[in-house]
Amino acid sequence: KEIKVFQKRLLDWYDKNKKPLPWRKNTQAYKIWISEIMAQQTQVETVIPYYERFMEKYPTVIALANADDAELLKLWEGLGYYSRARNLKLAAQEIVSIFEGNFPENLSDIQSLRGIGPYTAAAIASIAFGQPEPAIDGNLMRVTSRIFEMTDDISQAKSRKAFDEVLRKLISHERPGDFNQALMDLGSTVCKPKIALCETCPLADFCQSRAKGTQLNFPVKTKK
Ligand code: ADE
Repeated sequence: KEIKVFQKRLLDWYDKNKKPLPWRKNTQAYKIWISEIMAQQTQVETVIPYYERFMEKYPTVIALANADDAELLKLWEGLGYYSRARNLKLAAQEIVSIFEGNFPENLSDIQSLRGIGPYTAAAIASIAFGQPEPAIDGNLMRVTSRIFEMTDDISQAKSRKAFDEVLRKLISHERPGDFNQALMDLGSTVCKPKIALCETCPLADFCQSRAKGTQLNFPVKTKK
């Protein structure tokens, strides 16, 4: 019951406050995939025009699999980390050759694709296919660590499991993609790295660090 209230608060907040991102207009796996790869190490607001140009030029997996390398890299100019663009084309070719051009729905099949790790696979599975998989990125770890005063060190790969266990119990099975994206938006607009705007947070009542005033002690991070 407590969990249902948590989900409702978060999803109601999302319905009113979500960022108007172009890939939120529909949930085709191909589109979610491209947006998530672009949004790695780049702010979503910066990604928008790149995403629009990309979809115009490569509207389908097939179009991307047959992309001209020079044109693809040209389109990527400014986003950086060019291996991401090269991996996109290689993964598109894998989807064509192994999955007959259909984006795979199974989490481990998604993660088997070139350039797709646990975060991206979970984002696609939840947003495009409605599977209750927590998409654990820096925003989700920060928000979750503050709510539960989790001391797991986010610079350590093994900490991911602790966040996964907590979020798996909380994620909405009715709207898993929205649940993940609500936490991403909450992390980037409210529960920010250097300041926590708790007055506007839909989860403030649930937040253990807020109750103690220890928000900025979380997440625990040793490296960097
Ligand atoms: N950052 C990466 N993916 C995102 C998404 N789908 N929504 C909001 N922020 C994101």
